[in-house]
Amino acid sequence: MPTLFRKPREIRNYLKSVRCESKQSIGFVPTMGYLHEGHRRLIRESKIQNDITVVSIYVNPLQFGQGEDYERYPRDLERDISICAEEGVDVVFAPSDEDMYPEKPLINIEIKGLTDILEGKFRPGHFNGVCTVVLKLFNIIQPDRAYFGEKDYQQLKVIQRLVKDLSLPVEIVPVPTVRDPDGLALSSRNTYLSPEERESALSLYRSFLLAEKLFKSGNTDANLLKEAIREFILKHPRVKGIDYVEIIDQDLKPVSEVKIGDRILLAVWVGNTRLIDNWRLGDAKV
Ligand code: PAJ
Repeated sequence: MPTLFRKPREIRNYLKSVRCESKQSIGFVPTMGYLHEGHRRLIRESKIQNDITVVSIYVNPLQFGQGEDYERYPRDLERDISICAEEGVDVVFAPSDEDMYPEKPLINIEIKGLTDILEGKFRPGHFNGVCTVVLKLFNIIQPDRAYFGEKDYQQLKVIQRLVKDLSLPVEIVPVPTVRDPDGLALSSRNTYLSPEERESALSLYRSFLLAEKLFKSGNTDANLLKEAIREFILKHPRVKGIDYVEIIDQDLKPVSEVKIGDRILLAVWVGNTRLIDNWRLGDAKV
């Protein structure tokens, strides 16, 4: 069983001895819990590269906007701890809100041009909350490496930039998106989907395959690909709307001519559930 800590001071003291006395490397996987195969992949990567793996489980209120799903976000600490045990996680950190935020933080971390576009535009303040909690967690855990999924591609880019701009002493390791066999990207929010909604949610992955096919057959006009994606997704009965479909380069800048390595990023409402996904163009054989 992993050792469970609730208090920042206690885990910090424990890890100090791990780091200083036994000189062991620390891998860190920050999560909001309700762990699935995607989280497991991050944990496995950390286990390979580090002596000790720490998983945090904390539904961070700061990154949810008003009217979002903070209250109904799925939580099951007992189940999460047994998944961590199965994966051989050494330490679980599951703080309470009082432990994380004894006072409402007054700091606002903004990365101009990164936190205010795409997801940030539709969820104002979201990445500020993500940056604040991740920075706090980094300060508490002080890991050598931290693992982030490409599933949340913009989040990965934001964290990489946070680390670069502030010279944080941690290596960010990206981990590819884990999908169900039928292509649906794993997410704790998939638990909200009814069977009919799940069927419609497959349109996200299938639209990527469609775009990939168009790209492979010589269509490099981003607008054409984005329109084809929109049209395809909106045909599905449970799809309520699309927040955005964008094709971006390595720096998250929208492109007009698509090249290999550019990424499609999208956010779609299926019923009352908002799903995000992304796809790197030029990789798949379709
Ligand atoms: P959460 O949604 O729990 O995700 C935790 C980590 O798992 C993130 O790095 C995310 O990208 C990764 N992940 C989720 N689904 C994945 C999938 N299908 N394949 C691969 N990786 C996947 O992201 C957060 O929590 C929070 O914003 C957090 C960083 C913990 C800050 O609160």
